[in-house]
This record gives sequence, structure tokens and C-alpha cells, in this order.
Amino acid sequence: MTTIALYNLKGGVGKTAGCVNLAHLAALDQYRTLVWDLDPQGASGFYYHAEPGTAKDTKKLVEQSIDITELIQQTAYEHLDIVPADFSSRKLDFFLEEQKSSKKFLKQLLKPLKNDYDLVFVDCPPGFSVLAENIFQAADIVLLPTIPTTLSLRTFEAVKDFFEEKKIDLSKLMCYFSMVDSRKALHIEIMEAFNQQRRFFESYIPYLSDVEKMGIHQAPVTDYAPNSRAAAAYSELWEEIKEGIF
Ligand SMILES: Nc1ncnc2c1ncn2[C@@H]1O[C@H](COP(=O)(O)OP(=O)(O)OP(=O)(O)O)[C@@H](O)[C@H]1O
Ligand SMILES: [Mg+2]
Repeated sequence: MTTIALYNLKGGVGKTAGCVNLAHLAALDQYRTLVWDLDPQGASGFYYHAEPGTAKDTKKLVEQSIDITELIQQTAYEHLDIVPADFSSRKLDFFLEEQKSSKKFLKQLLKPLKNDYDLVFVDCPPGFSVLAENIFQAADIVLLPTIPTTLSLRTFEAVKDFFEEKKIDLSKLMCYFSMVDSRKALHIEIMEAFNQQRRFFESYIPYLSDVEKMGIHQAPVTDYAPNSRAAAAYSELWEEIKEGIF
């Protein structure tokens, strides 16, 4: 089982769009795939029509009176399941903060899934927190969608510093450019400079209205517009990610 966390310190960079589309592509490839929506905004769950989780369930999960398998819901897609977010609380965050010693708690929570899934995609909330540190420990790949602007790249450096400070294996940190506007010279310049770093995938996701329409269709773009440029961009990225895993 490989765990891929879609993360960025910054909000609104395409984490959820990446999570929902890449997980859908993985399921189309017949990999047994689970999305764990850890962002209380619950956007991944919304795109997959999941019932929101409850504070009661989150409490039981952290107290370990139930395990994560009991929170799994099926989606409309074959091979694709979801553990939806619970927007009423930040229970998991609070719990992890109380248990400062337990950086590996989330990793423990994922263990019961080992034989049932090939891939787990985690949709993360933005920001640094004990939860983020736990996610970094649990994930095999921390995938950062990054908008090619100067500020976003400073954020990328901040994430790298956080990994170093917390002694988290930096080799799991990978990035791809997101919401790329190829008419903007700055986007192109920044991408060229950063593509020399091994941390960035060559494939990138352009800024495309078909991705924005995910909210209207309430589905992955790879489902409602499989022949679109947007779907092709996510497919290319998925192929590249897959090469490193399987
Ligand atoms: N490639 C893209 N082109 C155009 N719009 C996009 C693209 N990717 C994402 N969007 C839109 O931008 C908004 C933010 O995207 P998304 O929710 O995926 O970001 P996020 O990083 O998960 O945000 P948050 O930090 O709030 O969780 C959404 O409305 C989404 O539809
Ligand atoms: Mg999101």
C-alpha cells in the first residue's frame, strides 16, 4: 500500500482537485484506491457525493474503539472508496496536539488498510500543524501542487525546512506545478528554473476552466470530461507518479 498525501502549506493551490482526479485515475487503472479526506472543509467528500463524517466517529477513531475501516464509504466508481471528513470538529488535530509524543499515530491508524488497498490518497488541510507532521510521517509521497509564482516557491522552501527540522525523510517530498498559465512569462520562467530540481514532476496542470467545473459536475474532471485537456494533464501526471511507485 502506498500513501500519497496531497499537501501544501498554502490554501487554494489545487490539492483537492489533484487528490480527486489522481485517485479516480488510479481506480480506473484497477488499483484498489482509498481517499482519506482529512480537510474539515470536506471538499473531496463533496466531489464523490459522500456522507460527511461525524465528530462522534472521529472521537471513536482517535480513542481506537473503532478502526478506520469502519468509516469507509463506497463511491460511485469501481475500486474507489472514501473516508469522508468531519467538518464539525478538529478532533484529530486536538488529539494529536495533546499526544505530542505520537508523531506516528496517523501511520498506526492507516495500518488496518494495508491488505485492502494499493493506494491511499490523503487530502490535507493547508498549514503546519501536528496533523501535518503526522501526515508527513505516514505518507510515502507528500505531493505538493505548486503554483509557479515567487511566493509559492518560498512556501515550498518553508515546507522543505519543516521536513528538515522535524527530521522527516525529504526524499518523499515531490511537487508538480498547478494552475499554470502559459501566457504568463513568469510562470514559464519559474517552471524552467525549478524543473532542474529533481523534486518536480515534468507534467503539470494548466489553469483550465474544466477543472473549475468540478464543483458544478460534482465529479472528477477525468470522469465528466475524459477527453479534455484537463483530463489529459492529470493522466500524464498520474503516469509519471505511477512510474515511481509500481
Ligand atoms: N488547474 C486548475 N484550473 C482552474 N481551476 C482550478 C484548477 N485547480 C483547481 N482549481 C479551482 O481552484 C479552486 C481551489 O482548488 P482546490 O480546492 O483543489 O485547492 P485546495 O488546495 O484543495 O484548496 P484548500 O486549501 O482550500 O483545500 C477550486 O475552485 C478549483 O475548482
Ligand atoms: Mg482542498
